Amino acid sequence: MTNNSPRSVARGKVFAVAPMMDWTDRHCRMFHRQITRHALLYTEMVTAMAIRHGDRQRLLGFDQREQPLALQIGGSEPASLAEASRWGEDFGYGEINLNVGCPSDRVQEGRFGACLMAEPALVRDCIGAMRDAVSVPVTVKCRIGIDDQDDEEDFDRFIETVSQSGCTTFIVHARKAWLKGLSPKENRDIPPLNYHRVYRLKQNRPGLNIIINGGINTLDEAEAHLPHVDGVMLGRAAYHTPWILNEVDRRIYGCTDEPAASPLEIVERMKPYISEQLARGVWLQHITRHMMGLFSGLPGGRLWRRVLSEQACRPGAGLDVLERAAAEIASRLQAPALAAE
Ligand SMILES: Cc1cc2nc3c(=O)[nH]c(=O)nc-3n(C[C@H](O)[C@H](O)[C@H](O)COP(=O)(O)O)c2cc1C
Repeated sequence: MTNNSPRSVARGKVFAVAPMMDWTDRHCRMFHRQITRHALLYTEMVTAMAIRHGDRQRLLGFDQREQPLALQIGGSEPASLAEASRWGEDFGYGEINLNVGCPSDRVQEGRFGACLMAEPALVRDCIGAMRDAVSVPVTVKCRIGIDDQDDEEDFDRFIETVSQSGCTTFIVHARKAWLKGLSPKENRDIPPLNYHRVYRLKQNRPGLNIIINGGINTLDEAEAHLPHVDGVMLGRAAYHTPWILNEVDRRIYGCTDEPAASPLEIVERMKPYISEQLARGVWLQHITRHMMGLFSGLPGGRLWRRVLSEQACRPGAGLDVLERAAAEIASRLQAPALAAE
């Protein structure tokens, strides 16, 4: 793989599951990996300072079965980002991504995340230092702008300046971040989506790899973006309705392997991992909380959520909780005239 190229895939397009704090932890990623072999997965954001001073095994450790996997870092200081990237590469991540899109106050105080969209030269220097430090691709996740920045010119200047670092892959959340007055959650919904702005970026800079993100809810929608860009990244839809990932390998990556026949098969695939984790003292609910949406919109969805939320949190809860819920769903599936919940 050449530096900064997106993963080489059957049709040259990338499908990624977004970095999401508190959500895309290692258990979540292992779960998603049972549904799609090829989607590129991202960690939650880890700050460069945490990597420098914190418990690196806890912050960066992962299971090789999660690959292909990218580490997202937050920071704005070239030397510490370079050091953090080095740690990421040493741990085995296949890509290091810089967060230039997060609008939370805590992140703004640390002068990183989306507020860096106003400092393209600093981002260029950060990415340059990170690229010098590692041989895996270094990518940027950003917005189309912040606050009262002019959509077209400021964004073009940002991309132009940052790409001087040699960075060629940009994941673009297709809405601005409004840094004053909106919560991070509101900033994921209220600023309007502008997909055409991202398409134009690809048209104007065909040599860059552009991955589009924001408000993409289904695989049909994801596929509709692909003629215009190099890839798609889904966040909330992948988390809340993970079964949509089941068709990713076939439809996006052109794989002919049989996808899982049903979400019940995914439950089976998760069991060995869950057993391993329980044996290490991990609580069942820390894993199953990410699996709540597996049957979303499907027969048994409500039952599944109820059993997991009521029983997986009990002290000592084990695989039997999952097995009971799965057995009940299986028996319902055999019943005639079953309506989707
Ligand atoms: C709970 C949550 C946590 C998030 N944490 C991060 C993060 O750590 N880094 C980041 O770049 N984006 C983060 N995001 C933003 C997502 O990566 C993504 O850009 C955003 O949700 C829009 O995509 P979507 O509409 O497909 O969800 C987070 C989103 C959610 C819902």
